[in-house]
Amino acid sequence: MQAEEIRERFLSFFEARGHKRLASASLVPSVYDPSVLLTTAGMQPLKPYFRGEEKPPAPRLTSCQRCFRTTDIENVGRTARHLTFFEMLGNFSIGDYFKREAIEFAFELSTEGFGFDPERIWITVFGGDEALGLGPDEEAIEYWRAVGVPEERIVRLGRDDNFWQAGPTGPCGPCSELYLDRGPDYGADSERPGDDTDRFLEFWNLVFMQYELREGDRLDELPQKNIDTGAGLERLAALLQGVPSVFETELFRPLIELGEELSGRRYGESFKVTRALRILADHGRGATFLLADGVVPSNEERGYVLRRIMRRTILQARVLGIEEPVLERLYGRVIELMAGAWPYLREERETVLRWARDEESNFSRTIEQGRELLAELVERARAEGRSEVAAEDAFRLHDTYGFPFEMARELLAEEGLAVDEGAVRRLMEEARSVARRGAGRAGQSAARRERASEVARQAASATRFVGYEQLAANTTVQAVGRDDGLLLVKLAESPFYPEGGGQVSDTGTLAGEWGRARVVDAVRLPDDQVLVCELEEGEPPPVGAEVRASVDVERRRRTMRNHTATHLLHAALRRTLGAHVRQAGSYVGPDKLRFDFTHGQRLGRDAVDEIQALVNKWIGASLPVRAFETTRAEADRLGAIALFGEKYGDWVRVVEIDDVSRELCGGTHVASSAEIGLFDIETETSSASNVRRIEAVTGPGAAELFARRSAALAELAALLRVPEHEIVPAVERLQRELKEARKRRQAGDGQVRAEDLVARARQVGDAAVVVEAVAGVEPRELVDLADKVRQKLGRAVVLLGAGAGERAHLVATVAPELAESDLRADELVRVAAAVIGGGGGGRPTLAQAGGRHVERVGEALEQAAAAIEQRLR
Ligand code: ALA
Repeated sequence: MQAEEIRERFLSFFEARGHKRLASASLVPSVYDPSVLLTTAGMQPLKPYFRGEEKPPAPRLTSCQRCFRTTDIENVGRTARHLTFFEMLGNFSIGDYFKREAIEFAFELSTEGFGFDPERIWITVFGGDEALGLGPDEEAIEYWRAVGVPEERIVRLGRDDNFWQAGPTGPCGPCSELYLDRGPDYGADSERPGDDTDRFLEFWNLVFMQYELREGDRLDELPQKNIDTGAGLERLAALLQGVPSVFETELFRPLIELGEELSGRRYGESFKVTRALRILADHGRGATFLLADGVVPSNEERGYVLRRIMRRTILQARVLGIEEPVLERLYGRVIELMAGAWPYLREERETVLRWARDEESNFSRTIEQGRELLAELVERARAEGRSEVAAEDAFRLHDTYGFPFEMARELLAEEGLAVDEGAVRRLMEEARSVARRGAGRAGQSAARRERASEVARQAASATRFVGYEQLAANTTVQAVGRDDGLLLVKLAESPFYPEGGGQVSDTGTLAGEWGRARVVDAVRLPDDQVLVCELEEGEPPPVGAEVRASVDVERRRRTMRNHTATHLLHAALRRTLGAHVRQAGSYVGPDKLRFDFTHGQRLGRDAVDEIQALVNKWIGASLPVRAFETTRAEADRLGAIALFGEKYGDWVRVVEIDDVSRELCGGTHVASSAEIGLFDIETETSSASNVRRIEAVTGPGAAELFARRSAALAELAALLRVPEHEIVPAVERLQRELKEARKRRQAGDGQVRAEDLVARARQVGDAAVVVEAVAGVEPRELVDLADKVRQKLGRAVVLLGAGAGERAHLVATVAPELAESDLRADELVRVAAAVIGGGGGGRPTLAQAGGRHVERVGEALEQAAAAIEQRLR
């Protein structure tokens, strides 16, 4: 029985028993569920139903949910059954049937539907747990006996095995699992379910969900009793196809074969090769599905999980001896193989393959760089005669350069060098806990949400949001509470938009006979909202009071312009950069918009200009903006873009801007793109790896920016005394002039000085003599100056002294004919150098000296002058 038939048999079995078939949710959980990084079970997207927070589309549900479990990454390939990505078939009861029916359904489908021999089915049940204060699940045992499972095949296990919880807190309950005994070929008769061996393979888990687990192992009863079950499709396939492991089913075989083709190795040839081929197959599926759900490789959270499996795949490909790029071919094959059951893979094909190429080429560079650094470490260790590399160095390779530690360890071992693995792991753990601490969540505090939910529960019905059509409403107060000095007010109808989809909450006022309050925030609850207010006058409104609720109009209009502009920007990015661009977060406020999107490279000035021009063109075209409700299927057909990680019901709201953009969006928008007025990108930066961030302003914000820039330009034009369009050439001219002036001044300075000194020359005998101290002249300039003066004077002796900083300098030049008659520059300098505490020398016509005693330059010149006089006379 192939996977396709297994899925169908499971889902239609439950459909025939009154269950509504649900589509799989994304691997990226809803933005309102921060408790898990990725969807790990079929129940995950249904949590609000189990908790009684939202009404389910039907009390009985069934689904085939795509799941990803990071805890099993290291186990993949070592066992017959561990996977990261898998499909979970499940049936769910939301306060409808409980243990008896769940057990009957599971037994019937397993035996009659899938044809498993009842004699080979074993059951585990919850045996009780002291910390939780729960005894054995006698009820479940009773129902299993009733369907015909004998006592000896019912195994009681503890909390670790048979109590199921989705994360550290959340809906949970005791569970009961179905195992198939695969016979003596797979292990000894003494083995039992729960032993974690291969003989007994678990294929279905039934969770009797009746508690909410709180911090500190506290259990609260849920408002109703639920059923949550999960059967692994891949395991069912292995059992039904009679193959030893999930990897031999038709879901994996073509992927294993690709690995064999590329490497020339054979599955089963050795543990190492088999494991590597299995990892290629499992990680290939996992990465393809994550990428198709909009995750991009990075160093944080989900992006890190993805990067890790992508890189592990590349490394395992090398283990197999594959040298060429592997990811693109692997993911391409996964898409071919799985697109029948998961058509969205085909739509995301280009995006998936693009990231495959990007990451693989990045990682190859990392490996090259890492190898070089490693070679340095090896060399250093050798030079110092050590047989070990410091844990800190190995850790730095991993942490700073992303070079995998396992690979570093192996390469070092080849060079005969050890590294303390325990110490490296400790450093990694420390780094991780630092990162975790830094990742605290901002935004609306959980405590306030909790308080707001309490207030909402006091009201008989949900608040009707009327803010799409009107910005003020006459309505009544349904419930009132307090939080930290603020009022929490729930209205029957509210024009206030509660923060969501990136758009900030509206602010405004509530007024009535009771007084006045300023609305500072609005808390979004499932299909409901509560306002956060500051009382300005009078008393808090009593329940039932009439109020006039008014939104700050100007602030909301600015926000709407920014929101519609965000959709245009998104569309422009996808057109210019490609369809791999996905929204990865946004802020839409009255002041500006910020848009984060997945893309691997910096945009550059030209791309930014092009995108900005495109958005402004659409604004100029006065495109109509329309919002409508439709089914999710219809929205998909229209090509509407859904927000990354958002959860949508059967009915969705689509915001359409003519033919340019269609997005699922609950936000508020202008009626025509023309209202945006103007769009100006202020910055293009990066917010995380492979995520770029654009900040922009629109309408009045852009007009203000425009006014500021115009004023600055006008001021510049006035200062330069040119019309605005000539500012640039005028500044260029000024720069040129400045440069020339600087050059002239330097040359000119020397000129002035030289003439000065010439004028002060004394005539001694038949020669002109200049002996002067000059301030602020560099030694090199001193030589030029002395030379210039001497040439102007002809038959002359010039001696100049200067103290620059901590050094004294002297230069002497003598006309050649005088030098021949034994008045030598080098001798003059030597006399003077002694005085300034230094030395010097040179030729008979030109010599220099330097010394420490700046204060004795005058004295040195005097002595030298005396010597000159003597000679010339
Ligand atoms: N949620 C249960 C599981 O994942 C069914 O095992």
